[in-house]
Amino acid sequence: MSTQFEIQGLKSSIEGKEILKGIDLKIKGGEVHAIMGPNGTGKSTLASALMGHPKYEVTDGSVTLNGEDVLEMGVDERARAGLFLAMQYPSEITGVTNADFLRSAINARREEGNEISLIKFVRQMEGKMKELEMNPEFMHRYLNEGFSGGEKKRNEILQMMLLEPKLVILDEIDSGLDIDALRIVAEGVNAMRSEERGFLIITHYQRLLNYITPDFVHVMMQGRIVKSGGPELAHRLEAEGYDWVKEELGIVDETVGQA
Ligand SMILES: Nc1ncnc2c1ncn2[C@@H]1O[C@H](COP(=O)(O)OP(=O)(O)OP(=O)(O)O)[C@@H](O)[C@H]1O
Ligand SMILES: [Mg+2]
Repeated sequence: MSTQFEIQGLKSSIEGKEILKGIDLKIKGGEVHAIMGPNGTGKSTLASALMGHPKYEVTDGSVTLNGEDVLEMGVDERARAGLFLAMQYPSEITGVTNADFLRSAINARREEGNEISLIKFVRQMEGKMKELEMNPEFMHRYLNEGFSGGEKKRNEILQMMLLEPKLVILDEIDSGLDIDALRIVAEGVNAMRSEERGFLIITHYQRLLNYITPDFVHVMMQGRIVKSGGPELAHRLEAEGYDWVKEELGIVDETVGQA
């Protein structure tokens, strides 16, 4: 079945301060939506709120994945339902190896008694690591501990490939990647594009979108999507910056501090 992800009027606050001021977004399976926007306009907050981060209180709106109410679900349940976030700053977990972490994440999505066998898992993980040109030693390293910036990002894509989510959110997956890694990561994403899977890609740079062609590009300012278009919008932003958008919409301060 083709995936349908829908956000309606989503508002979210942190410690009483409203950051997201009404987000509407519909993502169908097979589609790639890019979100761009200046620093501090709510992009990562949107990602965190969708994943159910406890710090981000949702005060209004609805989020559904294939008709199911996402906001009703706990964090684990959202992951099991098929939501996946590659974080802007992936956290390090000492004492848990990359392989252990991934295997339990995969098994958490399966019925009891239907867990993936160790051999099958290792084979899959090795295969995907090869595609991503990752050194096999990363299998047994503690999760993200001492990983370089680019290694962390590549590892997030490895997780995505193995977990096969329905809705993938990538928050600045391109930051810190060298030129070759950017291409490898983009190829990993493109290989995962299918009718069953939608993508929300947060980025500052058109460069990533040369590799992963988006269907829609959205601009976020003041905790809202203020403009949407096709790939040409990203090209114009790269060439001209955000001033013309602000002028067009009469926005003086694009950050979320303003009403
Ligand atoms: N945990 C938090 N505590 C306090 N303020 C927060 C918290 N999380 C987000 N904010 C504030 O919300 C605003 C939006 O932050 P967010 O991280 O969503 O921006 P962003 O659009 O992702 O920016 P960038 O492009 O720099 O990553 C910022 O002003 C930020 O300081
Ligand atoms: Mg951010």
